[in-house]
Amino acid sequence: MTRHRDGAAVAGPQTDGARPDAVPPDDVPVAVAELGVTLGTSTILRGVSFTVRRGEIVALLGANGSGKSTLVKSLVGIVPITRGHAQLFGRDVTARHGAVPWDRIGYVPQRVTSGAGVPATALEVVVSGLIGNRRLRLPRGARQRALAALDQVGLADRADDSVQVFSGGQHQRVLIARALVRDPDLLILDEPLAGIDKRSKDALAATLEALHGRGTTILVVLHELGELGPLLERAIVLRHGRVVHDGARPTPAAGHDTPEHDHVHPHADAGHRPAHVPNLRVEL
Ligand SMILES: Nc1ncnc2c1ncn2[C@@H]1O[C@H](COP(=O)(O)OP(=O)(O)O)[C@@H](O)[C@H]1O
Ligand SMILES: [Mg+2]
Repeated sequence: MTRHRDGAAVAGPQTDGARPDAVPPDDVPVAVAELGVTLGTSTILRGVSFTVRRGEIVALLGANGSGKSTLVKSLVGIVPITRGHAQLFGRDVTARHGAVPWDRIGYVPQRVTSGAGVPATALEVVVSGLIGNRRLRLPRGARQRALAALDQVGLADRADDSVQVFSGGQHQRVLIARALVRDPDLLILDEPLAGIDKRSKDALAATLEALHGRGTTILVVLHELGELGPLLERAIVLRHGRVVHDGARPTPAAGHDTPEHDHVHPHADAGHRPAHVPNLRVEL
């Protein structure tokens, strides 16, 4: 992450782009207008505009290197925005030290390693999600809230186990519980299915389905639809840092719901489309 900070040309955002004025601000989880990100000499994102409405579950798709992680990092202030505007619940997060409303957001970054060497129990990792920047004391009921969050990811019975003995998938679920413990209105997940076992993928799909049912807004970065395919209502597809598709719920077509068909391959040949996503007429 510091790579971005160190490597980035930290020019202030240019303010000539269109503002997402037309939307009722604090009712809209994500509003992005003409967003651009340039890191060093590379322009990673250009002219990205979209809105995520309350209660939506939206997939952010695209090949490796298309800019998905950079986009979500720019929303949560890890990568500076160089052009355009971004708002989360009506709060302008465009400025470098913009006011990301962390009290309403859960963010699960793309996993770099599985089961990092932190000697902590699952419960301790989840409780750490309740500690804010300025608040070093745990709120009342922290343990109960952490247990409830672990229950949401199907790990309530593993609360006192060290995460060092967990599989990659279980570790990922603990990190999701850590994001859920504050009961966020918007959950942003970066490739939560990548490299995890089938059981954890199913558990994660069940968790997201329950959250969606309760009205949580979800923005999930994926390079394959996998277990989440049936849940997704809308997809935004990035290609070389631009939005090339937004809309179309990718619904599984009858007869094509087997796992081998159930993905959007990042290196799919031109002309080859996954059979079950007829609306995604874009080359990934
Ligand atoms: N700090 C950086 N400086 C320059 N280029 C970067 C930096 N971080 C990422 N990139 C480049 O930005 C592009 C998009 O990366 P990323 O957002 O991680 O893509 P995705 O998540 O879709 O795989 C890639 O080409 C990557 O090499
Ligand atoms: Mg990524």
